[in-house]
Amino acid sequence: MGSYAMTGGATGIGAAIRKSLVSAGHQLIVVDVKDADINADLSTAEGRAEALAGIKARASDGLDGFIACAGVSGSVPVKPLIPSVNYFGSVELVDGLRDLLRTRRGSVVLIASNSAPMETRQDYVDALLAGDEAAARAIAEDTDGHPLYSGSKQAIARWMRRNTQSYAAEGIRLNAVAPGYTRTPMTESVASDPAYADAIKQFLDSIPLKRAGEPEDIAKAVSYLLSDEASFVCGSVLFVDGGHDAMLRPDSC
Ligand SMILES: NC(=O)c1ccc[n+]([C@@H]2O[C@H](COP(=O)([O-])OP(=O)(O)OC[C@H]3O[C@@H](n4cnc5c(N)ncnc54)[C@H](O)[C@@H]3O)[C@@H](O)[C@H]2O)c1
Repeated sequence: MGSYAMTGGATGIGAAIRKSLVSAGHQLIVVDVKDADINADLSTAEGRAEALAGIKARASDGLDGFIACAGVSGSVPVKPLIPSVNYFGSVELVDGLRDLLRTRRGSVVLIASNSAPMETRQDYVDALLAGDEAAARAIAEDTDGHPLYSGSKQAIARWMRRNTQSYAAEGIRLNAVAPGYTRTPMTESVASDPAYADAIKQFLDSIPLKRAGEPEDIAKAVSYLLSDEASFVCGSVLFVDGGHDAMLRPDSC
């Protein structure tokens, strides 16, 4: 059985990924702010260092895979959390685990979003890709949460694509999953607000498959990308969104 680590396994999509890996008999190390093997706050450099140290102490024989799933929505009140958790909490962990992943020719899945191609601030995405957390956080202070969220996910997908070749040279496959609207505590907090009920109904009706995603829909795609069935899939962004991205951007491929 394999040895895996992940972030964000406490609730929602991450909890479904956790359940599928554990029920398949794999060893799994979960990092989260709550209900985890390693309780660490990925919004800070100290928390990320703690997470890395904890994973390294528990998986000294290497990792078959790592899933970066922790994230916050565009509605969080403290907007600098969006770049720090979503982007730096993902890519810094992948980078920090590179040696362990190389040992077992591991597979990495980053959780992006089908909002990644949407309009955002390019200076913000540039700051993220440059690794300038202070600049990205400063931009976040005076920018609406939704472009910050989509920009953090665009940067994750682009970071993954930019790094695919160098990781592949060490036998590590990088891929991303881009979920569409998925029923989790993240979306439930908005869906339960009567002020948004109509807008959400219209949004769900616009999904070609006419339903919201379930956390298990995303977990199945992650399992595939981690597995040997996907041994030649490398550098891909897999949209798991009921056809929404294809509907919105039919000519992009
Ligand atoms: N639900 C959707 O519609 C949707 C769509 C696209 C992408 N996503 C992405 O999927 C991932 C999972 O989201 P979800 O919908 O399951 O939401 P969720 O809120 O249920 O899960 C997010 C997880 O991240 C953890 N987390 C948050 N801040 C953290 C921090 N500072 N340090 C460590 N852990 C932290 C939470 O505790 C939680 O376990 C996120 O990256 C999200 O952006 C979700």
